[in-house]
Amino acid sequence: MRRNIVLIGMMGAGKTAIGGELARRTQRPFADTDAEIERAAAMSIPEIFARDGEEFFRARESEVLGRVLALGNSVVSTGGGAWLRPENRERINQNGVAVWLDCDLETLWHRVRQRPTRPLLQTADPRGTLERLLTEREPFYALADIRVSARRGDSIEQTTNRVIAA
Ligand code: S3P
Repeated sequence: MRRNIVLIGMMGAGKTAIGGELARRTQRPFADTDAEIERAAAMSIPEIFARDGEEFFRARESEVLGRVLALGNSVVSTGGGAWLRPENRERINQNGVAVWLDCDLETLWHRVRQRPTRPLLQTADPRGTLERLLTEREPFYALADIRVSARRGDSIEQTTNRVIAA
């Protein structure tokens, strides 16, 4: 089974957009764990968080991740928190190459504020929350096999080229 290419990184790093383009270019199937969770639950992620809570969402996320990784040979975009669970990291490392789309706070904030739907950012100070999450998570993202810069000025094509080259 050929290994999966698994995109990890913060919300707003471009995992879904780059993943789609990467799948097209490498002619692999594409799976986005957030989209799969929403499809299976027939609810949006904000609705799942509001109704069933984060822990429930995380359990669904691990399930879906296991299922899509088992297909093999795919490009998989994960939600920003998926890589933080040791069990998920283990699975990804078993049959995938983890690619961290590394992005600075300004770029992330510029992108996520345009689509203010992320439940974890429904706080009094969403920018501060994003910064805290980035600081907490960076040491874990840095465990990825490959790190690719995904800054604001870069087009989807440029970043995808970098992933392919890496
Ligand atoms: C989350 C990121 C979201 C989604 C959920 C939780 C996180 O996905 O899975 O809101 O913990 O960072 P994106 O990274 O695609 O925004």
